[in-house]
Amino acid sequence: MKLLNTFLIGATVAISSPAASPTFTVDASRPAGKVSPTLYGLMTEEINHSYDGGLYAELIQNRAFLDNAAKPVHWSLVKGDNSAATIALDSANAFNDKLTTSLRLTVTQADKKHSAGVANDGYWGIPVQPKTTYRASIIAKADSNFSGPLTIAIVSDDGKKVYAAGKISGLAADWKKFEVTLKTGRAMPTTKAHFVITMHQPGTVWLGLVSLFPPTWNGQPNGFRKDLLQMLADLKPKFLRFPGGNYVEGDTVETRFDWKKTIGPIEERHGHPCPWGYRSTDGLGLLEFLNWCEDMKAEPLLAVYAGYSLKGMHVNPGAELEPFVQDALDEIEYVTGDTNTKWGAKRAKDGHPAPFPLHYVEIGNEDWFDKSKSYSARFAQFADAIKAKYPQLKTISTIGNDQPENMRVSSRKPDMTDEHYYRSADEFLRMSPGYAKKYDRSGPEIFVGEWAAYETPFVPWDRRSQKEPPTPNLKAALGDAAFMAAMERNSDLIKMQCYAPLLVNVNPGGRQWRPNLIGYDALSAYGSPSYYAIQMFSRNVGDEIIATASTETAIQGCATRDSQTGEVFLKLVNPQTNAVSLNLEIKGVHALASKGSAIILAGNPDDSNSITQPKRVVPVTKMLRGVKPGFTYEMPPASIVVLKLETHP
Ligand code: AHR
Repeated sequence: MKLLNTFLIGATVAISSPAASPTFTVDASRPAGKVSPTLYGLMTEEINHSYDGGLYAELIQNRAFLDNAAKPVHWSLVKGDNSAATIALDSANAFNDKLTTSLRLTVTQADKKHSAGVANDGYWGIPVQPKTTYRASIIAKADSNFSGPLTIAIVSDDGKKVYAAGKISGLAADWKKFEVTLKTGRAMPTTKAHFVITMHQPGTVWLGLVSLFPPTWNGQPNGFRKDLLQMLADLKPKFLRFPGGNYVEGDTVETRFDWKKTIGPIEERHGHPCPWGYRSTDGLGLLEFLNWCEDMKAEPLLAVYAGYSLKGMHVNPGAELEPFVQDALDEIEYVTGDTNTKWGAKRAKDGHPAPFPLHYVEIGNEDWFDKSKSYSARFAQFADAIKAKYPQLKTISTIGNDQPENMRVSSRKPDMTDEHYYRSADEFLRMSPGYAKKYDRSGPEIFVGEWAAYETPFVPWDRRSQKEPPTPNLKAALGDAAFMAAMERNSDLIKMQCYAPLLVNVNPGGRQWRPNLIGYDALSAYGSPSYYAIQMFSRNVGDEIIATASTETAIQGCATRDSQTGEVFLKLVNPQTNAVSLNLEIKGVHALASKGSAIILAGNPDDSNSITQPKRVVPVTKMLRGVKPGFTYEMPPASIVVLKLETHP
């Protein structure tokens, strides 16, 4: 008896087959639905120093001195044998009611040759690049005996090299904002550097906020790291799900993502504790999320706080929940309203007059954790208010098919439900052939809002994960690819999907979770094999799903066709450690060109990428010859392959 995966999507039935060798069949005469044009997207939240110490290009850690109420962490005193100074937090001299403390620097001994001041160690170092312009901005005041200058510099950790320096003068008893550019010359790139502010004479200075940016993506102020944004844009995502994840919920109601506190000038943002164990500056706030979408040519998928926080607090549906519902409506207005609306006008004032597109609003995150079982009523209250004001918007329930039916929303029919899958690579390989097979095609639509394969024998939230590398290996990518193929086969119903988490700072103490898609330190970044698998899938997809079947093989896959050009994209995953001579049967196409191309990601399943070996596992593209309706393709061991076949529609 041979196993045959029939043309029924994902079905595996045991029937006799005459096929004697591994065969994968693509039947273009059997279109199996439309590929969702929004299938491939990204998910993000503040975790693993994704923004502060990651995508958000700010280089000064604890720039507003609010990270620790007891001491100015990440700041240290600079003084020598012939200079003397002290530093202390000073909440009696705060810049405003948002930046509620300052750093007081009192220099008691210094002269032309001997300086004293403060240093910041950045996010695991200040990255030095040659011939680069950095922009420092400093909110400061001074006592009446001192008006400057302050020397601002980027200095090597051993103190031997000054990579770039500038001066600010004119300090006074009132707070002022100073801007200075620092230009490096020829220098070897390094993270072994810090940022210093020093004085050459005695005096007292208060610092309210100290910020330093390298060149950002498109030169945007308060912008993004260029290398990371480029890597994200390269995935050609159609949407960005933000701001979480747990980050939207916060540990408590008080520490939720309170979007109104994340907009406006950075000196108006107090920041807040993020649920992943560190404080967020909120420098990457609501408008920056939206700009980020625009930069990637992706649409926002906005998650609104829905009255449940991680430590088990919930807000009762009804009057108590009403202010939170209003906050969500205001947030949608900030995103989409024109400039004669209150919040649209605020967005314009913040620098973006044009409204952003928005089609989906997710109400909360993983509300199956709410033991009070209030989600169905909370969902109804939010969905009704959103639909009343914005009937065109689709609402997403955070409880999907991966949760027991009795937990799901019963008060309303959500337009879409969100499923989360953190599974082992082996489990993804097992479940993918049958995934979504039994789902009701009449809806709700499905969003797989978080998923990732792990290669370890334990789950990502097990303590043992802390000893594993921050990003996954090729074995995990094979599981990811099998699951992506399943979602693509079912993308008539699975309208959107996104891997999570996206970003990780790989420095010790930088991360709270593994596996993650993209790793980085202050200077450089790399994609995991899973990153490349996603890139291969998202950049090579048609608009029609084509039926596929396989016999005598563990190879999984999917096929789509571009209805305009006729090009067929056949995606194949070989999870085995042996090569497979695969018979490919291509049916129902006109004039198959004999030349095509193959994009191949292959290696040892244990192989992975890292900061020191960023390109160990990367795709290669090869010419494909001898393509015909029946041909043999040699699938490499442990491989993910996209075959691009030219045909006429
Ligand atoms: O992706 C990490 C976390 O996993 C998300 O914040 C949360 O939604 C899920 O439990």
